[in-house]
Amino acid sequence: MAVIAGNWKMHMTPRETEAFFAALDLTEVVAHNEFIIFPPVASLAVAAACGARDPRIQLGIQNMHWEEQGAFTGETSGQIAVEAGASFALIGHSERRHVFGETDAQVALKVVAARRDGLIPVICVGETLEERRAGRVDEVILRQLAAAVQALKGGEGRFLVAYEPVWAIGTGETATPEDAAAAHATLRAELESTLGIAAALRTPLLYGGSVNPANAADLLAAAEVDGVLVGGASLDAVSFTGIAAAGAG
Ligand code: PGA
Repeated sequence: MAVIAGNWKMHMTPRETEAFFAALDLTEVVAHNEFIIFPPVASLAVAAACGARDPRIQLGIQNMHWEEQGAFTGETSGQIAVEAGASFALIGHSERRHVFGETDAQVALKVVAARRDGLIPVICVGETLEERRAGRVDEVILRQLAAAVQALKGGEGRFLVAYEPVWAIGTGETATPEDAAAAHATLRAELESTLGIAAALRTPLLYGGSVNPANAADLLAAAEVDGVLVGGASLDAVSFTGIAAAGAG
């Protein structure tokens, strides 16, 4: 059983979203996988209407504000996302952190807000190339994880963690299955020591960064990799299905 998640980023108009779902055929792969798609907010309702034809596809929001409502022009609340059809929230994606300056403290606020609003958080962590070259992978991902996990302490409920090395996102460079396994082992051990063995074992750890139908099987077979978070290759129904087929293998 693998989690196959698609992060559409700022792609896919409502019309393109409809076309994607019309072309998507998960019949062969659905039994072995859990599917989550993160459309842009304006396409969420259309995705929900299309996805309703296949209740096995769940939807999420790519980012959210931590306040329940208010004068926050351009932001989306958890409640708006839920009503539009989301049940997951990506939090702390590297583009939020590095392009929009999102901090660990803001990530923590969003994790708490997601839980409050009934969304399952998908917490993203990952090091830059500079940090990897400096041998700081574990330090960086553990710092990012700690901020989010602190916010989860004491609360029940599901969450997921996505390890997405920044240098592998949208670059065509993929972490090796060994790199992914090593980072995931670090994350799993930290979850075990902070939240306990049961929480650590039931939390899916996803790998993200240039995943495609050709490399998905090796990444999904790596130790501690429970699924993938796919950007570019999730925009096409055939390639998304190809990645899911790797998860079903
Ligand atoms: P990519 O993006 O698959 O296009 O590298 C992954 C992500 O940012 O979630």
